[in-house]
Amino acid sequence: MGLRLKEVLQKESLPANQPAAMSSKATTDSSVTIHMAASLDGFIARKDGSVDWLETSDEFAGGETMDPGFVEAFLKTIDCYVMGSRTYETALNFEAKGFGWSYADKPTFVLTRRELPRTRNTVDFYSGDLAQFVNGRLRPTFRNIWFVGGGVVSGECLRLGLADEVRYSILPILIGDGIPFFEKLDRDVALHLAEVKAYKSGTVALRYEVRGVAA
Ligand SMILES: NC(=O)c1ccc[n+]([C@@H]2O[C@H](COP(=O)([O-])OP(=O)(O)OC[C@H]3O[C@@H](n4cnc5c(N)ncnc54)[C@H](OP(=O)(O)O)[C@@H]3O)[C@@H](O)[C@H]2O)c1
Repeated sequence: MGLRLKEVLQKESLPANQPAAMSSKATTDSSVTIHMAASLDGFIARKDGSVDWLETSDEFAGGETMDPGFVEAFLKTIDCYVMGSRTYETALNFEAKGFGWSYADKPTFVLTRRELPRTRNTVDFYSGDLAQFVNGRLRPTFRNIWFVGGGVVSGECLRLGLADEVRYSILPILIGDGIPFFEKLDRDVALHLAEVKAYKSGTVALRYEVRGVAA
C-alpha cells in the first residue's frame, strides 16, 4: 500500500490521546470499528478499484500533525483486522509493487468464498455468517477488532448491527463516481459524533459511535 495511502488509512483516523471507545452493545470486553478513507462525495475507490486519488496535495494551515510515537502505540492497540476479498487483493497488489503490508503482524481475517493466495501465516480466510464469526469467534478472542473495508463488508457489518464505532476519514477531493463507503444500506443507522479532527493534509477524521440499527 502506498505510503500516503497508509497514512490516510491509519494515522489520520487516530484519536489524539485515547483508545477506541468501548461499546455497551458488546457482549464481551470487545469493540468492532469500521474504518475507511473516502472522498468528500462518499467513495472509497474508483469504479475500477483504484485509489490513486488518496494521494492529495492539500494543506490546511490550522491542521494537526500526528506524533509518530503515538501512532505506533495506537496501532499496537488494534488486535485484529477484518477485510473483504477485494480489499485483500488491493493490499496484495500494493505489496507486490513494493509498498509493504499495512497490517503488520496482526491477525488478518479475509472474507471470501474463493480460493485466494495466503501470503503470510497471519492471514486467515472465512466464509459464511458474519454475525456468527464476529460474535462467536472474534469477540471472545480479540478486544479491538478493526474492519478495514471495503464497502460490501462494511455494509454487511452495519446491516447486521455488528459495529460499535465508525471512523470516517474524508479527503479533500471529489471523484464523482466509484465504490460507496457503505454498499446499499437498507435501513437507518443512528450515530453519535464522538470526535472530529482536522489534519494538515486537509483530511478530516470523524469518529462516530453506533447508537442503533433500525429494525
Ligand atoms: N478508501 C479506503 O479506505 C479503502 C479501504 C478498503 C478498501 N478500499 C477499496 O475498496 C475496494 C474493495 O471494496 P468492495 O466493496 O468492492 O469489496 P470488499 O468489501 O473489499 O470485498 C467484498 C467481497 O468480500 C467477500 N465477502 C463479503 N462478505 C462475505 C462473507 N460473509 N463471507 C464470505 N465472503 C464474503 C466477497 O468476496 P468473494 O467474491 O471473494 O467471495 C465479496 O465480493 C478496493 O478497490 C479497495 O482498494 C478502499
